[in-house]
Amino acid sequence: MSFSADVVTLFPELFPGPLGASVIGRGLADGLWSLRTTQLRDFAADRHRTVDDTPAGGGPGMVLKPDILAAAIDAVSPPGDPRPRLLMSPRGTPLGQARVRELARGPGAVIVCGRFEGVDQRVIEARNLEEVSIGDYVLAGGEVAAMALLEAAVRLIPGVLGAAESHAEESFEGGLLEYPQYTRPQIFEGREIPAVLTSGDHGKIARWRREAAEALTRTRRPDLLKR
Ligand code: ADE
Repeated sequence: MSFSADVVTLFPELFPGPLGASVIGRGLADGLWSLRTTQLRDFAADRHRTVDDTPAGGGPGMVLKPDILAAAIDAVSPPGDPRPRLLMSPRGTPLGQARVRELARGPGAVIVCGRFEGVDQRVIEARNLEEVSIGDYVLAGGEVAAMALLEAAVRLIPGVLGAAESHAEESFEGGLLEYPQYTRPQIFEGREIPAVLTSGDHGKIARWRREAAEALTRTRRPDLLKR
């Protein structure tokens, strides 16, 4: 059974978007993963297809109605569906490579894309939605966040990346940022490739890369070294 993604959104036309390109799109075409989008508005109960309402207690913006969202979730993910149900939200748990690896190993995900000020808390609890953030900034909606999460997970599915795009040494896999890379020409605008990398001494190259990765991580992401 392959990785199955369901996305509940007010903007299904945004998909597959970038998920239809390159290795991720090839994997989709080859059946290594599947993507289905569901228009939340199709579950609205009234003539105006209303999906949101004003926040209880007052304040700006609109809140997604729990009954409409629950109906959409139940339609794509009936009880017993083994897939985690995610809600993309800037107040979610920060997404990291460890959670991405877990998701990629699993049966897929049901992803709810929020818009407006938020989602009624009761549907988050009643449908066990795991709130996930892709970073400390606020997007206009969860769709781009869902695409980022899916792209990160799908590229880890066996067969999606060829040997040429292997991820053994990339950023985060060893708890460090990736070392700098170089390719020909030997001199670019007066800058040379570090001599060690063209020395042929594989022990020295490995040591240089390790030290470069540690130095980069120390200056840019000291929080990674503490983990
Ligand atoms: N929706 C809006 N901002 C978001 C973020 N940073 N992460 C996930 N979903 C979001």
